[in-house]
Amino acid sequence: MRSIGLVAETKDGERRVALDPSAVAALVAAGSSVLVESGAGARAGFPDDSYRRAGAHIVPSPDDAWGADIVVKVKEPLPGEWRWFRPGLTLFAYLHLAASPELADALASNGVDAVAFETVTDATGLPLLAPMSEIAGRAAAIVGAFHLAGGSGVLLGGAAGVRPARVVVVGMGVAGSVAARGARGLDAEVTGVDVDLARLRALHVEGAVTATLASSESALDDVIPEADLVIGAALVAGARAPTVVRAEHVKAMRPGSVVVDLAIDQGGCIETARPTSLSDPVYEIDGVIHYCVTNVPGQYPQTATRALSAAVAPRLRCLADDPEHPMLRGGWNVRDGRISHPVVAAALAQHTP
Ligand SMILES: NC(=O)c1ccc[n+]([C@@H]2O[C@H](COP(=O)([O-])OP(=O)(O)OC[C@H]3O[C@@H](n4cnc5c(N)ncnc54)[C@H](O)[C@@H]3O)[C@@H](O)[C@H]2O)c1
Repeated sequence: MRSIGLVAETKDGERRVALDPSAVAALVAAGSSVLVESGAGARAGFPDDSYRRAGAHIVPSPDDAWGADIVVKVKEPLPGEWRWFRPGLTLFAYLHLAASPELADALASNGVDAVAFETVTDATGLPLLAPMSEIAGRAAAIVGAFHLAGGSGVLLGGAAGVRPARVVVVGMGVAGSVAARGARGLDAEVTGVDVDLARLRALHVEGAVTATLASSESALDDVIPEADLVIGAALVAGARAPTVVRAEHVKAMRPGSVVVDLAIDQGGCIETARPTSLSDPVYEIDGVIHYCVTNVPGQYPQTATRALSAAVAPRLRCLADDPEHPMLRGGWNVRDGRISHPVVAAALAQHTP
């Protein structure tokens, strides 16, 4: 059976790790050899000793963990990590290649085979994206409310005699519906926008939103300028995010309003969004505060690591035993030196001049 390397994350503010000790124990019990980079889990609350007790080999440097047959990590490798790319390596992580042609090229040209968490599919949808979308969605309502305090000074729930804030959520999948519930829980008025009318109907009936809107540019002309907080979470799996909220919409918002674009990891569904980091999360355009952090769950490493690990570990076991296993369906993005996922390949072809 192929060896597994668990490496530390290097992205700004990222404190998650891809496997918790209980997942490592299950992999070791199934016969895998797991190499854990020393300190990989420390910022998520999992010290080396907890992995040692689970049966892992703690290795002192990233070189050793990256030397395993399969490397599992959370975020896409940053350029400083590309030096470990080599033929024969299999990478299992969030990759978001549609928004990163350079990484796609680095993987393919170095002969790395890669399975992307975010495109693995099953009967429920996207089982390796869902846990982090759930956490990012919950966080979106919290960070949106927080930045409104420093911006327009509007409180989501209003007060007696003062109307509540108006929140628009674009893309009512896992992240969007949880974000809407969070904002509703704080008594905001929430409009859910999606192309999927059945989904909008169900969320309206269960009370997650106060109003719904079929997604189109002209429909948004009316609601975005009136919104205090816009949360973007539209996704077409594998593809670059659709641009749903235009720059003119943002320009028409009141100063001090806030946009949170969760879809930024796939390029963003708000035209004025560009990636930001946990240590420098916001910028302003036309007086509107933009929060476009690409690793929102990284600030909740205990919850996020446990949630991610529970979803990743059974599929990692399949990857080590049988790379063609149906539990990895849709996940293969790079294989034999080429982009093997048709939607990702089509999105990347659009970048090619
Ligand atoms: N920034 C972060 O830290 C972070 C963390 C987790 C997830 N995400 C991202 O959040 C996004 C949403 O993920 P998800 O799991 O909720 O996806 P999902 O597939 O569950 O939901 C996406 C929704 O978007 C809708 N949609 C598609 N095209 C649309 C359009 N033109 N207008 C309106 N709605 C449209 C779909 O119908 C679907 O309901 C993804 O890009 C994901 O990568 C970001």
